[in-house]
Amino acid sequence: MAGLMAGFGHYTHAVVRGVPASLAKGALRTVHAEVDLAKAQKEHEAYVEILGTRLGLELIVLPVDESLPDCVFVEDAAVVCGDTALIPRMGAESRRREAEHMKAALKDLNLNIVEMTDETAILDGGDVLFTGREFFVGLSKRTNQRGAEILADTFKDYAVSTVPVVEGLHLKTICSMGGPGLIVIGSSEPAQKTLKIMQQMSDHRYDKLTVPDDYAANCVYMNLPNKGPVLLHATAEQYPESAKVFEKLKDHMLIPVCNKEKVKVDGALTCCSVLINKKADI
Ligand code: GLY
Repeated sequence: MAGLMAGFGHYTHAVVRGVPASLAKGALRTVHAEVDLAKAQKEHEAYVEILGTRLGLELIVLPVDESLPDCVFVEDAAVVCGDTALIPRMGAESRRREAEHMKAALKDLNLNIVEMTDETAILDGGDVLFTGREFFVGLSKRTNQRGAEILADTFKDYAVSTVPVVEGLHLKTICSMGGPGLIVIGSSEPAQKTLKIMQQMSDHRYDKLTVPDDYAANCVYMNLPNKGPVLLHATAEQYPESAKVFEKLKDHMLIPVCNKEKVKVDGALTCCSVLINKKADI
């Protein structure tokens, strides 16, 4: 395991994109909610500041596009692992043009680009959980079996298992990685059922960190030089009980991040960046 997981969470670059004014009214959402645009923009600026200034990642900032209300949620537009980037055919037709700038930026980083062109396939990056040793792909309204097969063909070094998404938009709406071999998971029945399926699919025994609020289970884990393990997670203001669980992680640098507005349009913490480990030789 040490070999497989050795570089897990090492990142040098983050691709991000700003919040367009069109997000407030035009972004897709699973439940109706009024978004305060100024607050959404402010919370996103704070998120980007953490990645760039506080953590020292090199930022690649894609241009905001008002005709793409969901464009801040860059995670859905690319799956990057090692030196390969899969540009998926996103599940929502209205979001497919988000891939254009993403593809160009990842090409500029000299990543190997694989494009999902099969018109029977759909996949959103939010449905892809990479654990460092394998992929779990949520089958949802945004991702289908053919999308998962193309992901498996793209990242042949890793096992790929599919998991039904029974609640929430994406697989990572209710889970994420909190460290090598550590899955952060919500406590609802659907979330726990999802974890059980993942455990049954895997020949690896993952540790789990259960948080009371499903939405708080989406965190951003990194392991950075000079900083060690870092976790961006939900704030105590937003999810007080879940924040207490994170506070028990003594080895991580814990960074609470406000995400009150973007969550109203199904945007979680992982949704707002694509993290890349660009080695000197790629
Ligand atoms: N608002 C994010 C999405 O629906 O894809």
